[in-house]
Amino acid sequence: MVTACHDGRMSRVSRRVGSISESATLAVDAKYKALQAAGEDVIGFGAGEPDFPTPPHIVEAAVVACRNVADHHYTPTAGLPELRAAIAAKTTRDSGYEVTPQQVVVTNGGKHAVYNTFRTLLDPGDEVLLPAPYWTTYPEAIALADGVPVVLPTTADAGFRVTVEQLDAAWTPRTKTLLFVSPSNPTGAVYQPEEVEAIGRWAVERGVWVVTDEIYEHLTYGDHRFTSMPVLVPELADTCVVLNGVAKTYAMTGWRVGWMIGPLDVIGAAVNLQSHQTSNVGNVSQRAALAAVGGNLDAVAAMRAAFERRGRVMHEMLSAIPDVTCLAPEGAFYCFPSFEGVLGRDLAGRTPATTLELCEVLLEEARVAVVPGEAFGAPGYARLSFALGDDALVEGVERIAKLLGARSGPE
Ligand SMILES: Cc1ncc(COP(=O)(O)O)c(C=O)c1O
Repeated sequence: MVTACHDGRMSRVSRRVGSISESATLAVDAKYKALQAAGEDVIGFGAGEPDFPTPPHIVEAAVVACRNVADHHYTPTAGLPELRAAIAAKTTRDSGYEVTPQQVVVTNGGKHAVYNTFRTLLDPGDEVLLPAPYWTTYPEAIALADGVPVVLPTTADAGFRVTVEQLDAAWTPRTKTLLFVSPSNPTGAVYQPEEVEAIGRWAVERGVWVVTDEIYEHLTYGDHRFTSMPVLVPELADTCVVLNGVAKTYAMTGWRVGWMIGPLDVIGAAVNLQSHQTSNVGNVSQRAALAAVGGNLDAVAAMRAAFERRGRVMHEMLSAIPDVTCLAPEGAFYCFPSFEGVLGRDLAGRTPATTLELCEVLLEEARVAVVPGEAFGAPGYARLSFALGDDALVEGVERIAKLLGARSGPE
């Protein structure tokens, strides 16, 4: 069916898709890559992707799959049976959540799992509680599924963690789902086990579904540990969808393999959706993902240690810049500093009033790509990924410090 404009003419692009904004993180990354391709000396803090290559045993499994004729054909829509089984086993190993292979559907990356989950769970007008700062894709995926994101702001003082009181105050009879993510993109916050449990219990009491994004489960730092909500609150299992993928854990952003885990009726419906949408994830990528989740975590531990070191360096350097404040990252691979204190200042002859403008100035004057907080529902902040090489990281933050320190206008 084609929708009509108010003046009676057909719209060329549907209202639903026409209202989506471009992914700000990918847009910043595209600008960075274009400048780089043009030979500019630019440093990218934009993309949330590990700089490491995919571990060799995973790549080898993909090479073998390329040569195997059986892998040249469709797989079942829900994924290779052995991959679904390996994901179920890995979930029990890593988070303690016991699920069957039939509860798993393999998707084209974690992003696709987010989209399919909301498409499967929501009816028009259903509300989704969305703590902010949020990953930029969540509100769009909710809106594309005709849901209504209900944004719940959190503060740096609260460690960017939402409380049960906030959730309860926002609850209405239309509340279908809570989106929960820990470790968080963009804030790097990790919830304490007792907070995860309290939120899970609240959801059970209120009959609210929980979509919990566990994609950063292996990336926690210091004393912070990942905990899985349906493990702490087993009664939640029937109204919970766990999202995950290989991208962040195994340096596999380009392979596009993610998954949903949920109750059988929801997974069955999601498989039906996917059967008319993408059929199945590419076999070569599925074989690579099988090698990843079926293998040990040695390479993961090495990458995690590098991220922890880089996160510490970035946090120290950002915190040393006058009027910039930054919480220490507890997980994922992002620092999320506040630049509120430097807005309105003269920087190289320009006076950015918002972080959107500040990030433009940083790119144009300091050749550093940073994602503005506006993209995450948090104006005044910006997100810097520390999943890049140590030298580039130091050089990039030095450039920011230099630009912010170079006051040329009146106080
Ligand atoms: C919180 C979160 N969930 C899911 C994803 C999806 O990752 P991918 O689609 O690369 O598997 C990302 C990627 O940035 C993320 O940050």
